[in-house]
Amino acid sequence: MELAGAITIFLGIYVSCLLVISAWRKQSRNKNLPPGPTPLPLIGNFLQMKMGETLKSLEKLSAKYGPVFTVYFGSKPIVVLCGHEAVKEALVDQAEEFSGRAHMPTVEKNFQGFGVVFANGERWRQLRRFSLTVLRNFGMGKKSIEERIQEEAQFLLEAFRNTKAEPFDPTFFLSRAVSNVICSIVFGDRFDYEDKEFLSLLQMMNESFKEMSTPWSQFYDMYASFLKYFPGPHMKIYYLLEDMRKFIERRVKQNQATLDANSPRDFIDCFLIQMEKEKQNPSSEFNIKNLELTTLNLFFAGTETVSSTLRYGFLLLMKHPEVLGKMHEEIDRVIGQSRIPAIEDRSQMPYTDAVIHEIQRFSDLIPMDVPHIVTRDTQFRGYTIPQGTEIYPMLSTVLRDPSKFKSPESFNPRNFLEETGQFRKNDAFVPFSSGKRICLGEALARMELFLFFTTILQRFTLKPLVAPEDIDTKPREDGFAKIPPFYQLCVVPR
Ligand code: HEM
Repeated sequence: MELAGAITIFLGIYVSCLLVISAWRKQSRNKNLPPGPTPLPLIGNFLQMKMGETLKSLEKLSAKYGPVFTVYFGSKPIVVLCGHEAVKEALVDQAEEFSGRAHMPTVEKNFQGFGVVFANGERWRQLRRFSLTVLRNFGMGKKSIEERIQEEAQFLLEAFRNTKAEPFDPTFFLSRAVSNVICSIVFGDRFDYEDKEFLSLLQMMNESFKEMSTPWSQFYDMYASFLKYFPGPHMKIYYLLEDMRKFIERRVKQNQATLDANSPRDFIDCFLIQMEKEKQNPSSEFNIKNLELTTLNLFFAGTETVSSTLRYGFLLLMKHPEVLGKMHEEIDRVIGQSRIPAIEDRSQMPYTDAVIHEIQRFSDLIPMDVPHIVTRDTQFRGYTIPQGTEIYPMLSTVLRDPSKFKSPESFNPRNFLEETGQFRKNDAFVPFSSGKRICLGEALARMELFLFFTTILQRFTLKPLVAPEDIDTKPREDGFAKIPPFYQLCVVPR
């Protein structure tokens, strides 16, 4: 009995020593991190974070600790960057160091560092270069991406006409059209709007984007190292993404069975051909897992982002009818009613261009960016950030930086206009982030936003079901993404 007691005491002391040494080691590794609130053992800065209000809580801490500070989620330090200067100094001026990707706990089980969005190092470089090349070149000799968008916008107009000016929820009208553009690139074809499988995939995407932004997901992001061992709402995201991956797995098998290496039909074919070319290369990242998960990245990112922005945009235009009126006027003057809008019209349409920028700035789709890590020990503003430390570039604080925008808190296209009415560029316009990880689909997204907005507004006006002053534009979820509120509208032929 005495021996058992002695062993227990010895083990107790031994484990405590190990814990103290490990905490001390971590502490000394992190001792020159930027300042921040004092963390408590195990729970970190839990007491400073309001449940489900990560963005607001971090902005509050920034008011106290400045634009660069450290906050602890459990025992994990996060370096938070706020405002244009700090984010630019990190993502642009020290682009290589700040280009790593952090694990995102809510989707970690699905991606495990595979696929272009969540890859790092050599894997990320290979997948990013390849994806960009395919996106840029696709349509070579066949239809250009611009033509694909123009064609899809006509299908959307037809669907809008069929609503006969009756009220409807625009969510899946917009996502079917937007998704078809990326689908024609990755799967080689568009889906019929009545296709049941297509609609169910879109519902899964919409649902998982929303789930990734709930208060629970924000809490899970902070304490995943503990919570992942328990069931909970985070499992829902896993199953939704897994169902989408299975769909892609089936498409890849179909492509393999019918592949003609001399005439690739889509992104999947191009990837399969690259796999074959590099099959003797042991450091090649062209394998089935990266194919499936990069395709899932492109399909998802190419659908939910642009369609949420269009949805938010419609709501903001109904809230500000004077802005909508000026867009109509510019469309009629520059494009007229007899031809479809083209991307080269944009340079003649500064007002419309400014409104689309303002919609993206104000709707602030990914407010805290997709988290980064530093790729090596990094000196930044006199601090030392150890390799692998997580970085939150707070895009939201750049998009509302009072030193860069005249009306940072309100919806005002003048934020992007000179007094003379010309379009004014602003380097704090970062909804796509900046630096080496900048959104891979930026060019595609900007083309889609311009062509969808102008094509729809050339033919329709937007009618809200309530008075403009009663329209609430507060996001429905405000976490990883800002999800626009639910609403209905009527589209009335002009
Ligand atoms: C309004 C539309 C969009 C917005 C606001 C947006 C925003 C973003 C943001 C904030 C990031 C993270 C950048 C970073 O890590 O610093 C990102 C990454 C990415 N986006 Fe987009 N995006 C949009 C549309 C698209 C489209 C249409 C595609 C499809 C091709 C796409 C594909 C990607 C990919 C693959 C990445 C990962 C890049 C990497 O890790 O290297 N996005 N996007």
